[in-house]
Amino acid sequence: MSLIQEIDYGTPASKSTETVELTIDGAKVQVPAGTSIMRAAMELGNQIPKLCATDSVNAFGSCRLCLVEIEGRNGTPASCTTPVAPGMVVHTQTPRLKALRNGVMELYISDHPLDCLTCAANGNCELQTQAGVVGLREVRYGYEGENHLKDKKDTSNPYFTYDPSKCIVCNRCVRACEEVQGTFALTVDGRGFESRISPGQMENFFDSECVSCGACVQACPTATLAEKSLYDIGQPEHSVVTTCAYCGVGCSFKAEMRGDELVRMVPYKDGKANHGHSCVKGRFAWGYATHKDRVLKPMIREKISDPWREVSWDEAINHAASEIKRIQAKYGRGSVGGITSSRCTNEETYLVQELVRAGFGNNNVDTCARVCHSPTGYGLGQTFGTSAGTQEFDSIEHTDVVLVIGANPTDAHPVFGSHMKKRLRAGAKLIVIDPRKIDLVRSPHIKADYHLAIRPGTNVAILDAMAHVIVTERLVNEAFVQERCDMAEFATWAAFVSEERNSPETVEKVCGVPAETIRAAARLYATGGNAAIYYGLGVTEHSQGSTTVMAIANLAMATGNIGREGVGVNPLRGQNNVQGSCDMGSFPHEYSGYRHVSNDAVRELFESIWGVKLDKDPGLRIPNMMDAAIDGTFKALYVQGEDILQSDPDTHHMSAGLGAMECVIVQDLFLNETANYAHVFLPGSTFLEKDGTFTNAERRIQRVRRVMAPLNGYEDWEITMLLSKALGYEMRYRDPGHIMDEIAKVTPTFTGVSYKLLDEVGSVQWPCNAEAPLGTPTMHIGHFVRGKGQFMLTEYIPTDEKTGPRFPLMLTTGRILSQYNVGAQTRRTANSAWHSEDVLEIHPHDAEDRGIRDGDWVKVKSRSGETALRAKISERMSPGVVYTTFHFPWTQANVVTTDYSDWATNCPEYKVTAVQVSTSNGPTEWQEEYREMSEQNSQIAQTLDAAE
Ligand code: SF4
Ligand code: SF4
Ligand code: SF4
Ligand code: FES
Repeated sequence: MSLIQEIDYGTPASKSTETVELTIDGAKVQVPAGTSIMRAAMELGNQIPKLCATDSVNAFGSCRLCLVEIEGRNGTPASCTTPVAPGMVVHTQTPRLKALRNGVMELYISDHPLDCLTCAANGNCELQTQAGVVGLREVRYGYEGENHLKDKKDTSNPYFTYDPSKCIVCNRCVRACEEVQGTFALTVDGRGFESRISPGQMENFFDSECVSCGACVQACPTATLAEKSLYDIGQPEHSVVTTCAYCGVGCSFKAEMRGDELVRMVPYKDGKANHGHSCVKGRFAWGYATHKDRVLKPMIREKISDPWREVSWDEAINHAASEIKRIQAKYGRGSVGGITSSRCTNEETYLVQELVRAGFGNNNVDTCARVCHSPTGYGLGQTFGTSAGTQEFDSIEHTDVVLVIGANPTDAHPVFGSHMKKRLRAGAKLIVIDPRKIDLVRSPHIKADYHLAIRPGTNVAILDAMAHVIVTERLVNEAFVQERCDMAEFATWAAFVSEERNSPETVEKVCGVPAETIRAAARLYATGGNAAIYYGLGVTEHSQGSTTVMAIANLAMATGNIGREGVGVNPLRGQNNVQGSCDMGSFPHEYSGYRHVSNDAVRELFESIWGVKLDKDPGLRIPNMMDAAIDGTFKALYVQGEDILQSDPDTHHMSAGLGAMECVIVQDLFLNETANYAHVFLPGSTFLEKDGTFTNAERRIQRVRRVMAPLNGYEDWEITMLLSKALGYEMRYRDPGHIMDEIAKVTPTFTGVSYKLLDEVGSVQWPCNAEAPLGTPTMHIGHFVRGKGQFMLTEYIPTDEKTGPRFPLMLTTGRILSQYNVGAQTRRTANSAWHSEDVLEIHPHDAEDRGIRDGDWVKVKSRSGETALRAKISERMSPGVVYTTFHFPWTQANVVTTDYSDWATNCPEYKVTAVQVSTSNGPTEWQEEYREMSEQNSQIAQTLDAAE
């Protein structure tokens, strides 16, 4: 195995469709117009020496190392900043150029510590390489003069260091931060010899605006900015391309290893979702894989009040299987079920639903998408005919108007957030519909054209009002609607939205946004060119989640913004494989590819493949499983890679359900909160330890490749197979590729997918089949999957959750960049340096009314429960609305959320809870107990490890 080296072409590719021919060092080359001479030479395999150029950022032309001679032109222009021209004749290697480059290199080296042998970048330093390339043999200038060799190192960032003594002021880091990440955290301080790179106003990295994405580290040609792991472990020696296991962006990475130790994750330039960029989680927050809290041996216990007993894999699996058999014999076939994981691979998810349907003999399988994007499935299924995003991420490069509703891309989908910001800086317009002033509303060089700060729970009202404007002001794209949509449905919908009760003037009283702003935003969306909608859980996690998704789809159809690049409806899926877990048939009513279990032909297909009779009735959803458990009819649950106690709503109901079961089997990395109710614990494996695929928010299927052996002994799919065999239903898959072959065989949208194809082309977006052998970047071109697009009536029905004298504020929830979901992984990394606890954001007026100061402990009480956390006074909030995250189990925002849910899918209404906030002395009693329990679980894991 070797290290995967990606070619650095020096400057970004030109997107021109015109071609230019020129001659470089006697060879002819054709390149797109606008290409730099440096890149054209690289296309020929001629590497022109360079230091300040790299192909992830625009050329800067400062180092003067890449000089060339051009026939018929005076001087020696920089090849990185000089574009090619037809007929141009270029020389890259002449005695004159050699002398000039030598002189430049001498100056650099005379102000650079000559500690190569002990430097973290030794062997992987561009300064070192280029000194060799230009043939530098001596440095005439001594170190006696002024230099920067004693400049102090900044080690404040948990993951990388900044050593200014090694800085050559090439500006690559500054440009990476601006152009790639869009944070603008770095500046060049001082002039000439005094120039130094500075995060913010001479702050250290940790205290600056830096979001630790690592783009500058990747761009730095020297060890000035370098991962701390390079110092700790040394230079990597081999690498494997795999996919991030955090969010639905699905960034590709090279996992760079030294022996079996992971040195660093380097974003892969060929990754079609991320193009070589990453966020702090994917690049740096992988330390949880070897965290001391990880449990590596199976454990069982008779009662949840008993201590855990470490056992062999055989004993654990046999015990789990015999318990399931015993329970089914006593309480019936339907008394058990399973939960698939959106953190696990497609193949693993497919096996869990197979285990439930074929092994347990019922359809009691559900997944975390129940609590996030199930309304997307329903809403887009009804209107367009398929339940997934319509575009690829790159589509945004063709977008003129971006409408973001109920999503916070810079925190929750950071790499796509950076891509979006790049397009906005290039001139696209922006409409944000969100109760909170998210970063996109105002950040460096970006300002939303309209921020519609709605009251939580009024999404449908405002979308109907926008539709009202579009219809009544005759902004409908009639040609599109006539050709592509059901006209009778359209007419009914148009009449409905035109009613006065849906006018902005009426709706402004409901949602709190001035009518004129709603009108202006609607006009911009309808007439501003290509308009694309991006949405998140702020749309779905409502009692009208499905209605909101349909209202979004209606807007896109009415304006013709669907079925080509630059437009569309794009759910930003939360977890890395939530799209995949839904595709694989994780819902109780659907097989893979969203086909209903009552469909005889589909069921017979699975019966023939699996060799068992299958149940034609849909099974139980997660909340119904808990209801049934409390009623005494549901007794056992197999949960793979999901902390349902922490992530699902109404914690009291969930704990009552889990507590009433006779056998809970948890398969996970850590003793999570759900494991407190478990009788069997099966240690899971991380994404670094397994093969498989994830499907991201663009429907892109990408390979996950094993970079190290599973520390627990098995990949997760193998554990499911063991359990299944012990139950008497033996699965016979050789490896994950074999499982994918079956998925392709039984799922029409996956017919063409195989590991061979994925290895050849990198990734594909489903549908991938005979009609689209290389996948489908844009959906609904020419016609909708369901035929004619269907306008749905979207009556606004206010949620039953209302503010009043007892609970006068609305609580809404979301995510923060450095933590992820329930925090099981990120809390076990240095990411907690940025966010070590959940806080309550509250508007200054609401805080003042209650005598709350910044940092005070406050109690948040709803009709469901109460929790305590610290207050953060923030103008991001509108008066009357408070906000928190849910990354820490001892805060448990879900203790406060209610049991209201989406009318169509049961997706919980996390985003709207009426609360009262008051000062408090500190955590509540149950929070103290929770913290204690978490610490005990960590102790258990460590004690078991120590005993090994
Ligand atoms: S820190 Fe690295 S990338 Fe930035 S200017 Fe210095 S050498 Fe160049
Ligand atoms: S880590 Fe990212 S945000 Fe921080 S300075 Fe570097 S490029 Fe900018
Ligand atoms: S944006 Fe998402 S997929 Fe990409 S590195 Fe960050 S967490 Fe991973
Ligand atoms: S690489 Fe062209 S001027 Fe530095």
